[in-house]
Amino acid sequence: MAFEKNILCIGAGYVGGPTMAVIAAKCPQYKVVVVDVDKEKIRAWNSDNLPIYEPGLHELVKKTRNKNLFFSTENEKGIRESEIIFVSVNTPTKTFGQGAGKAADLQYWEKTAREILAYSNSSKIVVEKSTLPVRTASAMERILNENSKAIHFEVVSNPEFLAEGAAIQDLENPDRVLIGSRETPDGIAARKTIVEIYVHWVPRERIIESNVWSSELSKLTANAFLAQRISSINSISALCEKTEADIGEVAHAIGMDSRIGPKFLEASVGFGGSCFKKDILNLVYICESYGLEKVARYWEAVVEINEWQQSRFIQNMLTNMFNTVAGKKIALFGFAFKANTGDTRESPAIYVAQGLLAEQAEVVITDPEALKNARKDLKGFKKGLTFEPNPYNAVKGSHAIAVLTEWDVYRELDYKRIFKSMVQPAFIFDGRNILDRKKLFDIGFNVFSIGKAPLKHF
Ligand code: NAD
Ligand code: UGA
Repeated sequence: MAFEKNILCIGAGYVGGPTMAVIAAKCPQYKVVVVDVDKEKIRAWNSDNLPIYEPGLHELVKKTRNKNLFFSTENEKGIRESEIIFVSVNTPTKTFGQGAGKAADLQYWEKTAREILAYSNSSKIVVEKSTLPVRTASAMERILNENSKAIHFEVVSNPEFLAEGAAIQDLENPDRVLIGSRETPDGIAARKTIVEIYVHWVPRERIIESNVWSSELSKLTANAFLAQRISSINSISALCEKTEADIGEVAHAIGMDSRIGPKFLEASVGFGGSCFKKDILNLVYICESYGLEKVARYWEAVVEINEWQQSRFIQNMLTNMFNTVAGKKIALFGFAFKANTGDTRESPAIYVAQGLLAEQAEVVITDPEALKNARKDLKGFKKGLTFEPNPYNAVKGSHAIAVLTEWDVYRELDYKRIFKSMVQPAFIFDGRNILDRKKLFDIGFNVFSIGKAPLKHF
């Protein structure tokens, strides 16, 4: 069967896989191929055991795979046969050389551009799906278009705004889709081609067109604003703990102001995930490189507050457990950076686990989806660490529970039974404010929440 369009996506990760699965499902007339250098990952995408956990993803992949959605390691063939290439490779923080610790490491991105150039023998649209520093498109155009093949590449920016754990929902019903290009006739024609894909399921008024630099910068800015809201509410949570104000009540009161809005005001042990920190630090680096020191410091503070919130959580555990956790068993409820994902990248749980292990606590980690990644994250620790899928087994004989991921399953446990199996006095540190603190206190727990006065029996 001949397909109307041949779309390739380079990078079969958290963005490439789900995004292409949705495009394939919504546009059966297009052929969608996803390639990756990671053979194991591609093997997993072609199996019943997908490499990432995302509600609704497996069903979608089963419907489309090997019909109009294909996962492959054949970059060269994929590039040659496509007219539109989405690039969703990783763009982590640079760990070496200039800008180490802040700037985006663009080596995977640039390698991809060179591969596209090497294997192409016709003109193509290259779509920036990865999150990139503003003005990356300019460098890409240089690499791609200084060729002797008499072919032309139009670089379009189409950043992804999905949140993990809700990726399919976000992709099927996005707040907006942003497509930026050069304001030249070729640039505008290329972005219209990308618009044509999304109009199959996204209302036209939610598809925004802009210049390419605005599009690139909007992605970094959106993540910076979202993370800033969390750091803002977390900073106030610290003040609540000093003043008997309740962060839930404060968030509710300010969120009812329609200019502020109620979303993203959940105080927590801190934000995690692969992107907020890296994208803000990237923004900071860009500002510094343009001499905008004040702007750089302003955004850097969002990351600093987040790190402080995580260390404050560990300190709080230590202080309230009589200044020592050495030899005490502590159960961590949740290791993923948020619920409904197995992703643990930059999860606050990593820092909490490391902090407690450094204090010689016996740490037991439980999580419905993230234990495999947790094992990898903490592979350097040989002593005092166990992994247990069943939360009831995890808490047996423990002094404390720290809730680090807001999985629903933790709201519904039998805490009377749990209390009886723990060492007394028993502590709960709820880093997500998901538990009924009054009920827990009545059972006998000493309860510590974020931004609320503690409920203690002593
Ligand atoms: P990821 O690490 O899960 O996936 C990236 C994939 O690209 C990896 O599987 C890697 O093997 C592959 N890759 C690297 N170089 C390659 C090459 N030359 N050829 C083929 N494959 C190659 O990363 P991710 O979470 O999917 O993020 C990708 C980009 O999207 C990043 O820029 C990120 O900032 C952005 N983003 C991520 C999210 C998210 O929720 N994870 C949301 C929006 C935007
Ligand atoms: C975030 C953005 O929400 C997406 O729009 C963006 O596409 C993505 O980053 C990206 O660029 O990677 P994600 O990190 O998957 O998505 O998840 P979020 O729901 O934003 O949560 C991030 C972190 O903030 C989690 O650790 C979460 O628990 C925490 N959080 C979130 C809070 O502590 N409080 C809140 O009120 C909301």
